[in-house]
Amino acid sequence: MTERRILVTSALPYANGHIHLGHLVEYLQTDIWVRFQKLLGRRCVYVCADDTHGTAIMIRARQEGRTEEALIADMQAAHIRDFAAFDIEFDHYGSTHSPANRELCAIFWDGLLKAGLVSEREVTQLYDPVAGTFLADRFVKGTCPRCKSKDQYGDSCEKCHSTYAPTDLIDPVSTISGATPEVRAANHLFINTEQMRPFLVEWTQTADHLYPDVAKWLDAAFLSEPLRDWDVSRPAPYFGFEIPGAPGQYWYVWFDAPIGYVAATKEWCARTGEEFADWWRSDKTDVHHFIGKDITYFHTLFWPVMLKAAGFNLPRMVHIHGFLTVNGEKMSKSKGTFVRAATYLEHLDPACLRYYYASKLTPKLDDLDMNLEEFAAKVNSDLVGKVVNLASRTARFVEGTGLAAKYPDDGGLFAHAAAAASEIAAAYEACDYNRAMRLVMALADRANKYVEDREPWNLRKKAESAAELQAVCTVALNLFRQLVVYLAPVLPRLARQTGELLNRPIRRWDEAQTPLAGTKVNRFERLMDRIEADRVKAMIESSREDAPTAPSQQPTTAASAPAAPAAADGPDALAAEPLAGTISFDEFAKADLRVARVVAAEEVPKSKKLLRLTLSLGGDERRNVFAGIKEAYTPEQLVGRLVICVANLAPRKMTFGMSEGMVVAAGPGGSEIYLLSPDPGAVPGQRIH
Ligand code: 2FM
Ligand code: ZN
Repeated sequence: MTERRILVTSALPYANGHIHLGHLVEYLQTDIWVRFQKLLGRRCVYVCADDTHGTAIMIRARQEGRTEEALIADMQAAHIRDFAAFDIEFDHYGSTHSPANRELCAIFWDGLLKAGLVSEREVTQLYDPVAGTFLADRFVKGTCPRCKSKDQYGDSCEKCHSTYAPTDLIDPVSTISGATPEVRAANHLFINTEQMRPFLVEWTQTADHLYPDVAKWLDAAFLSEPLRDWDVSRPAPYFGFEIPGAPGQYWYVWFDAPIGYVAATKEWCARTGEEFADWWRSDKTDVHHFIGKDITYFHTLFWPVMLKAAGFNLPRMVHIHGFLTVNGEKMSKSKGTFVRAATYLEHLDPACLRYYYASKLTPKLDDLDMNLEEFAAKVNSDLVGKVVNLASRTARFVEGTGLAAKYPDDGGLFAHAAAAASEIAAAYEACDYNRAMRLVMALADRANKYVEDREPWNLRKKAESAAELQAVCTVALNLFRQLVVYLAPVLPRLARQTGELLNRPIRRWDEAQTPLAGTKVNRFERLMDRIEADRVKAMIESSREDAPTAPSQQPTTAASAPAAPAAADGPDALAAEPLAGTISFDEFAKADLRVARVVAAEEVPKSKKLLRLTLSLGGDERRNVFAGIKEAYTPEQLVGRLVICVANLAPRKMTFGMSEGMVVAAGPGGSEIYLLSPDPGAVPGQRIH
């Protein structure tokens, strides 16, 4: 039996802008899925390309005084650089402005003509007589015909939300030249999708190619009435491919863009000696598209019609994600939350974003919110505090000896985590990375508890404990490696470094099933750093400067940038709660403050404010604490993190049970509560002096 093939694509990024954090949701989602498939040993290929055609590129090239080819070549190089820096690994990255794409466009066109789906008719459009071009809706502005608001785009009004044709605008102006546009007629070519209704109904509604919500939406929004013809040509001048047999008419950018998926595959085949038909004309290949929700109808109505008419594979699945919001709002250039990939990289480690997005991604259309505080807290607590920490606290102790010759008795920990492999794999397969990360972190909690209980740092002080020290470190490093195998699709660099540390590269998912024994341990190098809040702040500040809304597009210097409000740390807080009277050192010393790890957290039903925490103070010392932090933290944010606990506070009987201590936090209360935690290295039980 021939092995199944998986062909994966992400939407092709436009060549008229740089990659930003919003784009990366999709490319990281796809890259993680592809890496997971490859780790399982499946035959999977990931292709993408720059989307290069259209009026916007043509106008921009003119404004910059260079050819479209020069512009798109620079942009493609920048995109490739940004993707590589984020470890997004394509098997092939092409361009829609390629000979392969031109050739395939002609093949698709032929299929559509033969199926009798193409017709021609005249369209009137606004024309800029100065720039010498027809104007796409977004290149015309004027007064809304309905509410009379000025400065509205040619397709819809931002004030009253009405939609209209650009020819309906009052006093229209071309945004390219400022000229008053004329109304001109030209012939356009259309694809009749209504004729394909039976196929589309079947494809969208009866097979599981789409999430159920998407299928319902297509049915309600489009399939419930006759499908409109799709205008797939644009008159010259247009940057794109001229349509064979239709001089002066070019394929509209949205026609040739998805064909770019096929063209990129064809180029990859030419490079690798693969058979093109095996990948796009074979029932042994599953095509998976990953896209954002805004381009759903192109990929679920027009694209299947094109593929069907031309006899190519239909997508096995269209995976659709929501948009990125930052701190609960749309990305904003003025707020500095519209962050370019390259700007992020100047300040932060790409692995942090890969993990953070993974921890938030589910197979749903919901928007993904990047809360910048949560971003830092989650990376610090999960990756630095729970995963990397396992190695940083043990690897050095076995640099000389290596791992024990036989894997020691670990009380079933490795076997337990090995058994979780199928559940974690199912979550990755279903694009539920949020669940996969939660499962992995629950295993990390168990591994950390083992290390805390066995205290290798103390064993190291006693010569007679050398064998036990080696055994404990062997277990800890194997549990660490097992987690890294599970995280390898998300954190390929960490997987590589772990392979180097333990002298055994991580190549396959099933490497989490067998512990290593008797192998050398190489010199431990730092694997990952905490995210400091000032790095995030600096990234936001430099993104503010990137904003093209800066006065007249001049480079913004620190001196000319609008002054940020001066940091005024705390006078308001002080006024709200003045400093207390002096106490003696002995009085202070009565409070026994300890580092503790939250090993469990749950909501207290019927209480608006309380969470019930189980704290580990090291060894068997556990505390049950009711903390009034429910409005500021969810239980998942807390499990595994270190906190500071008042360990000798007299137990208090509360309505819901006994509270045996208190966790220390700052802030006025409600949703503004900030738990204190020590820097990495601290371990539960340590006293605060
Ligand atoms: O929305 C976009 O950014 C488009 N450039 C996506 C094209 S995807 C595909 F059809 F090529
Ligand atoms: Zn209006």
